[in-house]
Amino acid sequence: MNNAKHISVAEPVNENISSGENLSFWLEAMDQPLSYEVLNSDVKADVLVICGGIAGLTTAFCIAKEGRKVVLVEDGFIGSGESGRTTAQFTCALDDRYFELEKIYDEATAQLAANSHMKAIEWIANTVKQHSIDCRFKRVDGYLFLHSSDTKETLEKEYAATKRAGLATEMLSGIPGINGEDGKWCIKFSDQAQFHILLYLKRLADAFIKLGGTIYTQTKAENITKHGASANGFTITAQHIVVATNTPVNDWVTMHTKQWPYRTYVIAAKIPKGKLPFGMWWDTGNHESKWVSQPYHYVRLAEFDEKHDLLISGGEDHRTGQADDEGIKEEDRYTGLIEWTKKRFPFIEDIVYKWSGQVMEPIDSMAYIGKNPSDDNIYIVTGDSGNGMTHGTLGGIIITDIIMERDNSWIKVYSPSRITSKTTGDYLKEVGNMVLQYGDWFTGADIKTPEDLKPGEGGIMSSGFRKIAVYFDEESNLHTCTAVCPHLGAVLQWNADEKTFDCPVHGSRFTTEGKVINGPATSDLKKVNIKE
Ligand SMILES: Cc1cc2nc3c(=O)[nH]c(=O)nc-3n(C[C@H](O)[C@H](O)[C@H](O)COP(=O)(O)OP(=O)(O)OC[C@H]3O[C@@H](n4cnc5c(N)ncnc54)[C@H](O)[C@@H]3O)c2cc1C
Ligand code: FES
Repeated sequence: MNNAKHISVAEPVNENISSGENLSFWLEAMDQPLSYEVLNSDVKADVLVICGGIAGLTTAFCIAKEGRKVVLVEDGFIGSGESGRTTAQFTCALDDRYFELEKIYDEATAQLAANSHMKAIEWIANTVKQHSIDCRFKRVDGYLFLHSSDTKETLEKEYAATKRAGLATEMLSGIPGINGEDGKWCIKFSDQAQFHILLYLKRLADAFIKLGGTIYTQTKAENITKHGASANGFTITAQHIVVATNTPVNDWVTMHTKQWPYRTYVIAAKIPKGKLPFGMWWDTGNHESKWVSQPYHYVRLAEFDEKHDLLISGGEDHRTGQADDEGIKEEDRYTGLIEWTKKRFPFIEDIVYKWSGQVMEPIDSMAYIGKNPSDDNIYIVTGDSGNGMTHGTLGGIIITDIIMERDNSWIKVYSPSRITSKTTGDYLKEVGNMVLQYGDWFTGADIKTPEDLKPGEGGIMSSGFRKIAVYFDEESNLHTCTAVCPHLGAVLQWNADEKTFDCPVHGSRFTTEGKVINGPATSDLKKVNIKE
């Protein structure tokens, strides 16, 4: 990397601040984590919201506005999950495409989807205005252009579908701001939006507290039932429970057969101020990719310093824990991203940040928002894919309407209980992939002995029938845990980029010392003694 002075290195994962070693531009720009009281007594509320990402905080805020008593608990700090790792583009340019929604569902559903995302953008704009939230909110236009593996037919089909869905899109000849080689066409989506996610969450949290809400951070919800949950040894009793943990931690199987975890990568480079007008750019995705969710590139600008803006560019996704299947390890994914970005934006200067994150891809292209299947008073928001800013916002609007018993035409389309048969092919592919991962029980390991590791390195070792997650820290201490995922028993993989052990099946992730940082697993890895 060039001039990596802002890039955090060498510290093992702080499971409270973020879900990986690399810190995003947003996280590093904050002087300190967004922390509140730690729960230290039993509490009662009308609604318990588990989690302080965009979905949880928006839901807590919306319900508190209705005059209900709301308690929010977050096991790290506000924004310490995927929301702190986002690129914070608010768009109705859905990464799963409107013509696909028409195929899987129908035109009416595609219209509802378009309308819901436009309304989510408007909701943010109004909230920012009403509460004078200073979060660098900006309206910008976005441009969807062809990936080099794709043909113009995709853009034509998508353009026609966006029109049928009621969006004010335009087909342009040429891509504003980008060097030519991606073809001469793009679809322009007007009036999209962007902001600084942590400034937004901080001010939204202030507004929630003003409405009478309570936030507890470093407070992990456990034993979630229809009566509430426990945390830090205390009981939280509530009539309604919202689990907005990005991937549900209250459900062992059902939702985890409907969505799949992918990792995605981001670089941020300085560019001379004013060189590029603020906007958003996305390509249509790699049609030669082996993954069911085809990875695409996404780009935006942010204000940086007096002389520079920051060009934030993302992509190079792969199924979590399976980067090696394409022969490009997690830590090497940035190389392709830098190459891709330099070709389109040749004026980028120092790359000052890099980070990665996890997105949940639903099998039928719509997020899951609403009542958890088979529960009456437990609600979830998950399956956001790359549109989690708008989906998280919609989570707040939809769940509030369900709790307040108000009708809302989006409730049915986002229902986590919906059944869609037209995605069976993709479903079977993802299930096949999941089954294959259990083959890791019978294949070789990364390392033969801990001596194979240098300080700061980790790996998976076999010992008889055991699989062991080994980490050799910077002070030359050895950490050894079982490498068997406590969710459903898959073998974890070492992620050298974020210094975590990642599960290739449903995306649970663990620190170098075995502490769980991403569900669906709810417990830490058991320590093992390798001399046994
Ligand atoms: C690199 C990257 C770029 C992206 N870019 C965009 C974009 O430009 N536009 C867009 O729309 N979307 C984007 N996304 C997706 C979007 O950022 C996410 O979908 C969204 O932030 C998820 O928000 P969330 O509130 O559901 O989850 P999170 O932000 O992950 O919040 C969940 C919280 O739950 C907490 N938690 C978990 N378990 C417990 C427990 N038991 N008790 C208490 N707390 C718990 C975690 O600590 C975490 O803070 C991007 C994602 C990534 C990774
Ligand atoms: S997350 Fe399900 S097996 Fe690991």
